[in-house]
Parts: sequence; C-alpha cells; structure tokens
Amino acid sequence: MSAFLRRKLAEKLLRGVMRNHPELRRESDADKCTQDVVKSIRLLKVTKKTDISRGQFVLNFSDLRVQNSQLASLLQEQLNAEIRTDTEVNVSRLEGRQDALILKGDPQRIAEDVLHQVKQLSPDYGYKYSSDINTQNTPKGTVVVEYSSPNIAKPFHAGHLRSTIIGNFIANLYEKTGYKVIRLNFLGDWGTQFGLLAVGYQRYGNAEDLETDAMQHLFNVYVKVNQDVAREEESKNQVEQKTHKLGMEAYRKMEKGDPELLNLWQKFREMSIENYSKVYERLGVHFTEYHSESMYHKMSQGLIQRLKQENLLKFDQDTGIGYVEVDTVDDNQKKASILKSDGTSLYLTRDIAAALDRYERYKFDKIHYVVENGQHLHFQHLKGVLKKLEPWAANLDDDFHVKFGLVIGMSTRHGKVVFLKDILDEAKERMIETMKTKETTKETGNLEAVADILGVSAIIIQDLNQCRQNNYTFSWQRVLNFKADSGVFLQYAHSRLCSLERNCGIPLDITCDPVHLTSQEAQVLLLHIARYEDVIELALNSLEPVYIVQYLLQLCHLVNGAYVHFKVKDQSRDIAQANLQLFHASRITLANGLCLLGIQPLERM
Ligand code: ARG
Repeated sequence: MSAFLRRKLAEKLLRGVMRNHPELRRESDADKCTQDVVKSIRLLKVTKKTDISRGQFVLNFSDLRVQNSQLASLLQEQLNAEIRTDTEVNVSRLEGRQDALILKGDPQRIAEDVLHQVKQLSPDYGYKYSSDINTQNTPKGTVVVEYSSPNIAKPFHAGHLRSTIIGNFIANLYEKTGYKVIRLNFLGDWGTQFGLLAVGYQRYGNAEDLETDAMQHLFNVYVKVNQDVAREEESKNQVEQKTHKLGMEAYRKMEKGDPELLNLWQKFREMSIENYSKVYERLGVHFTEYHSESMYHKMSQGLIQRLKQENLLKFDQDTGIGYVEVDTVDDNQKKASILKSDGTSLYLTRDIAAALDRYERYKFDKIHYVVENGQHLHFQHLKGVLKKLEPWAANLDDDFHVKFGLVIGMSTRHGKVVFLKDILDEAKERMIETMKTKETTKETGNLEAVADILGVSAIIIQDLNQCRQNNYTFSWQRVLNFKADSGVFLQYAHSRLCSLERNCGIPLDITCDPVHLTSQEAQVLLLHIARYEDVIELALNSLEPVYIVQYLLQLCHLVNGAYVHFKVKDQSRDIAQANLQLFHASRITLANGLCLLGIQPLERM
C-alpha cells in the first residue's frame, strides 16, 4: 500500500481512539502510535468482493499487529464499533469475515497518492517512504550474504548458477530496504580434490592447453584423474588404488606449504577467477569480497586447538576422525567431523573458521548462506558448532542456510552442460534467431547486446518463478517464450512502456495532478502498483523471489490490458497527462522490480 495511504488509514484509525483517550494526545505519544499502526498495516490483496470503482479493497485484519498492547486493544474496540464516516479513508468490517476490513478510499485521492509516491521516490519506490526522502539514512543493520561460491578448476554447475541468481536477489533486497550488505563469494579452492587435480595435471596436463582454454583443460584433467580413481577402486586391489593415495598425499603437502604445489594451485586459482569474473559481469553480479577456503586452512589449526581446550573435540575409535557433537540434528547425525585422521582440515572445519572470521570482520546482524538443499546437514553442523562456541550464534535461525532445489536437465545443443558460459551463449544465440523472425523486435542495430540481456533475463526468470526449494526442469522452450510468463515477456512489457513515453508526443509533467483515473480498470492497476511495497516486505520475510516475479507478471498483464482504455495520443491535455502518468508509474514499478531480481530493464528491443 502506498505509504501515504497507509498513513492516512493509521491516522483515521487513531482519530477515534484519541478522541476517547485524551491521554494519548500528547504529541510524542500520538506520533509513536501512528508510526506503530503505520508499520503494522498490510495490503494483502484486492479481492473480487470489493468494489474497486469505489476504491474499496480488503485489508487483512489479522495483520494489524501493533506492538503497544494497550493501543492494540483500543484499536480493536474502535474497529469493532465499525466506524463509518464520510472522510476520504474509511474502515468497516467486511460482512461475515472477522479477519478482514474494507478500506474505502476516494478513487481520486488514491490515484493522486499512488502516483505522487512513485514520482517522488522513483528508483526507491517500494523501499522507502516519501517522507524519508531527505533524511540521512543510517543502515538498519549489517547482513552478510554468501552466494555463488563455485569451486576452482571444476565446472560451475547449475547449483552455482541458482546460488548466484538467488543470492544476488537477496543481497539487492536487503540493500534496497536499507541494510548494509556484504556480498561474499566463498571459492572452493582447497581440499583433497586439489591434491588430486595436481596429480592429474602432472599426468595429463600441459602448459599450452592451459594457456588456450584453462577451464576446458582443467576440466578434462579433472575428469581423467577421477576416472583413474574410479577404475582403481573398482578393481578393489589395494596396490592399484594409488591415484587416490597420491592425491591425499599431495593435499597433505599443500597443507604443509609445499611451494611447488602451491604455485600450481595459485595459477589454477587465478585462471579460474578470471574466467568467473567474465561470467559475473555478463550476469550483472558483483561481490564486496572474494574469500576462499584456502584462506582458512591455517586458521583451522587454531580452531582445532580451541576445540581441544574447550573439551569439545572427540575422536571416533574406528576411523580416528575428530568431531564435535552438536545438538541441533537427529540422533544419528550428531557428529560433525572436523579433523581427518591424517591431521588435515575438512570442508566443515574451514567453514567454521570462516564464520568466526566473518563475525570478527563485519559484526553482522544476520548471515545467509545461499547453498543448495543437498548441503542441509553440513549447515546444520556448522550452526551447531558455532552455537557451542560463540554467544552471537544464539541468534542464528532457519534462514541462516537459504536452501534451494535442483535444476534438472540443463543441456545445450552440444550436449550436457559443463560451463555456465555455454548456457549464456546458447540463450543469446537462440534469442538472436527468434528475434530475426519477429516483427515486434526492432532493435536490430544492437541485436547482440540486446539478445545477451534477453537471454540472461529469460534464464533468471525461469529460475526465480517458483519457490526456491522446488526442483525444476530446465526448458529452452520456456526460456525463449516471448508471450507466456517469461523474462522476455517482462522485458517486452518494459520496452513497450518506454516506447510509449518516447513516442506519445507529450512530455511527462510530474507536477500535474492526475484526473479521471477513477474507473475500475485504473483503480485496479493503481492498487496493484500501491501493493509493491507490501510484496517487498513479504519477500524480505521469506527470502522468496517468487513473490516479486509473480507480482511483476501480474503487473504486466494489467498494463497490457490498459493500453485500450488509456490512450495518450489525441486526447485532451488532462486526460493524456493522467494516462501517461499511470503508464509512467507502471514502468517505474516494473523497472524497480526487474533491477531487484538482477535484470537490467531494456528500453528498446
Ligand atoms: N563450493 C561449495 C560447492 O560447490 C559451496 C560453498 C558453499 N558455501 C559455504 N560456506 N560452504 O559445493
């Protein structure tokens, strides 16, 4: 709901209460009460039962959660008395429903409020109140969001892509709503797999291929050496299992600081980062800092000392593995392994050291790890050990690990996907092919760049248009769809709105108050725009991008239906200006939503 409308409603609700309770009328109290009520109102949805043409929409009663309990009961009394007055905002109970209220507003005022709010805040619309616009903003808190986190010299798989897309959205969401956000990429660049890669490189690698296409070459080496291990394991012959042992040995040497191995590792690492950076740029994703597992293998030793001192480290009799017993998980999964029998660190050890270091660096209020469902137990263990070590960890809750499902069947024309770059390239190629056959896509001068952005948008929307914990099947047909609910559909709606503003023949006059936007069609669209702020809050509480995607798709359907009703060309000045403002507000809202999802809105296509 627009902040203005929200404030009006709060004042209206409070007016009756204040009348009967003069003690609340002191200025500071009144202001606090209004703020409390303002914050507690949500516009959940516009239901069919309400008469939009008269500016009625449903407010969910159960959502009126004011913090001050005395005030809450007074309000309840007030609402029960079913206030009906002739002022512009008016509340009454919806027949038969205990939990819903009808909020009545004068349609003309609603149009003015909503459009005013959008024009004032523009790129901040949905995230701030217009009354905040000139105030110095101090951050609401510090949030660390860790996302993407691929492994060096191994393919960037669909799970990393999802983490990148979802994590970027979450970081944007916090940033826009006033938090200080630390965007972290935690590269997997340490562990037994690295020892094995070093062995593989000695066996199959060469400098020339590494120079030409590092990622492809390292991937080939990685596959071959892992095949060796698998073959030897199958033969079940102890002597034969030497590749695995060599890998372990190499990793042990790396942990001890072997200069030759570390040089090689350093080189693979740099090449991989260079390669990832290009893909991130294309996706419009950035990070505050790159951290990596290797930063923490030394700190891991300190951590192990500390665990010993605090009597938290136990040893498994059979395997010799060192573990901490955590309380947070099922009985048979309580052992969180920290130390290998040969004294080297594990993935979890480095993650614990990293979390402690992050707290030292950022003193965060919240931390989120955006990582696939499959690592659920790992993060339960991480949280469990942290809770044993640090008081601040008591605040970690379920959204500490932001989980997501699998992408099934992601493949290109050349076969199963190995590199993200291949998917982005193919999306772009396919976009170009489709655009060439369409009359509606005119932007041929810039075809390559536009097709690349469209490809990325399409992949992002396909990913975010479902609850994140669901698995989904990747479909080129869905990605490329220009009509149905897709990324291209959203971009198309945006560029059509831009083109209307460019070609309508009159300049937008933001000082002019809109008139005549009182019809059912106009009010539905206006109230939908007004709801953006509430959807943001929903997304923030659940960290679910799907709410935003669904909201934007609905917005575009409403806008597409609005072109017939609201002409801008050949109209009287007032009508043309009002209609133009309605489309302008729709465009700003759509653009804000797209940016939040990590999509660059296209002005022409
Ligand atoms: N590199 C890991 C992988 O590809 C993901 C890292 C997730 N983040 C973390 N702090 N453990 O599986």
